[in-house]
Formats: sequence, C-alpha cells, structure tokens
Amino acid sequence: MTDKIEIINLPRILDARGNLSVLQQMKEVPFNIQRVYWIYDVPGGEIRGSHAFKSTNEMIVALSGSYDVVLHDGNQEFRYQLNRSYYGLYVPKMIWRRLENFSTNSLALVIADKAFAEDEYIRDFDAFTQIKLNGNSNGI
Ligand code: TYD
Repeated sequence: MTDKIEIINLPRILDARGNLSVLQQMKEVPFNIQRVYWIYDVPGGEIRGSHAFKSTNEMIVALSGSYDVVLHDGNQEFRYQLNRSYYGLYVPKMIWRRLENFSTNSLALVIADKAFAEDEYIRDFDAFTQIKLNGNSNGI
C-alpha cells in the first residue's frame, strides 16, 4: 500500500446489455476493505468532507454523476473531477479532502480500510498542516 494519491482504472466489461465494472480488495483496491459508505442526495452547492484521517486509507468512486475531490497533502492542493464510474481515486491516510460541486443525483462511493472511529478524524486544517510539518507524539 502506498502513500501516493492515485487514480486507479477499474476494469470495464463493455456489453451491449449495459457495462460492468468491478473492484476487489488487494487487487484494484490496494487494501483490505473494512467499510463501505456512500454520499447521496447532496443539495446543490454543499461541501462534504473537510477533514483528514490519521490512519485510514480510502478509495472514492463516482458511481453516478460527478463531483470534485479536492486533496491537500500539507503542501499542495490537487483537484480531481470524478465523473466516471470506472475510476477509483485512492486517497491515502493523512491527506486532507473536500468533496464539492456535486451534480444532481450524484452518488459518491467510499471504500475504507478501517471501521468508523471519530478519533481517526483531523477536522482542523491548521492542526493538519502542523502535523504534516512537524509530526506529532504518535509518530503520524
Ligand atoms: P463525516 O465523515 O464527517 O462526513 P463527510 O466527511 O462525508 O462530510 O460523517 C458525517 C457523520 O456521519 C458523522 O457524524 C459521523 C457519521 N459517520 C458514521 O457514523 N459512520 C461512518 O462510516 C461515516 C463515514 C460517518
């Protein structure tokens, strides 16, 4: 498993009856899957995310519609427009993320390698950049 942000091309099985894509743990998804959640019914103009995870790695897929995933590594910002259901955006731990510009009826699938835990979250951007600069007592 890497600490590199990456767009992963998921297999596409094209078929006149309708197309199919797939992801499997430790194959297209570079970790063991512990949790899957999805974000939907997002009102126009709303922003989701705005946090980093201390040790959780995730993959984000736009199953339907489109939205932007804005990532920050403490140094630089990167913007990915997700608008195809066969791209997975790998977001490693300790990357700040914000999801915005959701289209009507968009569906954001998020696959994670850890169970939900509120103490996994860093919700303050200045605290995040400080940890990226200096590390902290947990060695993160
Ligand atoms: P949060 O991760 O802050 O939302 P987002 O980053 O997508 O904007 O989660 C919103 C709320 O949902 C928060 O109270 C925690 C809860 N939640 C769970 O209970 N389990 C989960 O797996 C997730 C992702 C969130």
